[in-house]
Amino acid sequence: MSKPVVLLGHGDHALVLRALIRAQGRDLVGVLTPDLPAGSLWQGVPVLGGDEWLDHPQARAHDFALGLGRMPGQPPLRQQVFAKLRARGLATPPWIHPAAWVDPSARLADGVQIMAGAVVQVAAVLAENVLINTGAQVDHHGQIGAHVHVAPGAVLCGSVQLGEGVFVGAGAVLIQGITVGAGAEIAAGATIYRSVPPGVRWIPGRAPIGLSQHETGV
Ligand SMILES: CC(C)(COP(=O)(O)OP(=O)(O)OC[C@H]1O[C@@H](n2cnc3c(N)ncnc32)[C@H](O)[C@@H]1OP(=O)(O)O)[C@@H](O)C(=O)NCCC(=O)NCCS
Repeated sequence: MSKPVVLLGHGDHALVLRALIRAQGRDLVGVLTPDLPAGSLWQGVPVLGGDEWLDHPQARAHDFALGLGRMPGQPPLRQQVFAKLRARGLATPPWIHPAAWVDPSARLADGVQIMAGAVVQVAAVLAENVLINTGAQVDHHGQIGAHVHVAPGAVLCGSVQLGEGVFVGAGAVLIQGITVGAGAEIAAGATIYRSVPPGVRWIPGRAPIGLSQHETGV
């Protein structure tokens, strides 16, 4: 029998994950957030407390789902909270919406999230805490580094490699074999036909903008 689920966060991404957990028929028993009072309800789900609850003796009896998204320019909170789960050895299984397609040969590490309508093709490898958002596509042999966010509707053609912490904006298209360096951010709607160096914000028709380690989290 599967464990009851605890969700971290109470924003928009948490709402989408709550829907995923429901669609899986799993039992969502609590939410962790420092921003709402313990004992209150969020979307009908009890708020258990903040991150300190991760040290609760009952924590190990649960599966955890990380309900924090990550947008360009935001601090890498998603990485930091995931690290707290890892440090405590708490269970963060992959979360796959029933309306996504993940080929059985794909390899998904802990905490990977595949949202509704997304496709992960043959021999793709997704490292921990990767988020493949609604309707995005990772084609065959894609190699996706830890903590990457592929935003809704983006298309990664075959054998694309993304370094740790990369953000791919909504609807961007990366042609086959492209490499994107760690921490880079690709603008929504961009067409990427050459590899992108690490740690830059890439907007079509503009010189790449350097990002600090504080911004990229890697
Ligand atoms: C790339 C991005 C991070 C740039 O944000 P920013 O640094 O705040 O940039 P600004 O909005 O100040 O825009 C700077 C310039 O780049 C242009 N620009 C911004 N985003 C662009 C895009 N996606 N494509 C083409 N040009 C873009 C702006 O028009 C502006 O041009 P101007 O100086 O001539 O007026 C942002 O526009 C973006 O694409 N974010 C991703 C959104 C997304 O995918 N959301 C999904 C969430 S799940």
